[in-house]
Amino acid sequence: LKGLKIVKTIEEWRGIYSELKGCSIGFVPTMGYLHEGHQSLIKKARKDVEVVVVSIFVNPLQFGKNEDFSTYPRSLERDSLLAEEAGADYLFVPEAEEMYPSPTLAKVTVGHITDMMCGRSRPGHFDGVATVVTKLFNIIRPTLAYFSIKDAQQLAVIQRMVQDLNIPTGIVTCPIVRESDGLAMSSRNVYLTPEERSQAPILNESLKRAKELIEQGERSVQQIVLEIKGKIEKAPLANIDYIEVREYPSLDQKEIVEGQTILALAVKFGKTRLIDNIIVNV
Ligand code: PAF
Repeated sequence: LKGLKIVKTIEEWRGIYSELKGCSIGFVPTMGYLHEGHQSLIKKARKDVEVVVVSIFVNPLQFGKNEDFSTYPRSLERDSLLAEEAGADYLFVPEAEEMYPSPTLAKVTVGHITDMMCGRSRPGHFDGVATVVTKLFNIIRPTLAYFSIKDAQQLAVIQRMVQDLNIPTGIVTCPIVRESDGLAMSSRNVYLTPEERSQAPILNESLKRAKELIEQGERSVQQIVLEIKGKIEKAPLANIDYIEVREYPSLDQKEIVEGQTILALAVKFGKTRLIDNIIVNV
């Protein structure tokens, strides 16, 4: 690796940071197993700032007991190449002991907007995300941080956290990157069996169809949810966790579609839980 420097400890990064002397820093936090979605965030940062830092840390705090923490795909070699190719300068890859030398007693909780949608089926997940993102921000001290709207609820939580706690990092929102058949890119897509993979594009298709209905004048949230549900139920391996139509980013529930609205869903294929969404402005 020519350009990319691997940083493993907080102390090492602090040393580098002090040498950067006020350069603008763009930060892309990830859990690794990078794909074109992550690369699009790195490329955007490359255009915006002087120094681009990517972190890879599979954060144990944001996984539930029966979730995929131990099986989450990991490959530093592969990730280093992809991060460098996209234009990263530094790859921060701390071990769990570096991030959590003792069990953390301090946690960051964002209320209300974490009780619904993914928060309902993944209790504690967003506390884990908010806590690790705060830690990473305090370590890296980025000018700007880049997140995909793919994890729309996570993004709303982070934006609210930054706003409420006056965290001096700008949050940059980037679009979802999709496979050619519309499936939103995710590190978890590698879990899908060929049969599950062939049915998974139904998520995006159903959201696109719902968006068309809204564009044609449909305003009933109940009707839109029913449309999406009907379409997804045609895929025999799909198991719906939730389908929600809400105001974004407040996540307020509405009966009638109005203003900036998110159509969001989580669907399980076997053990793999996929999420996707579309934002529409009405
Ligand atoms: O979106 C992710 O990959 C993770 O939730 C994040 C933001 C890196 C925190 O662990």
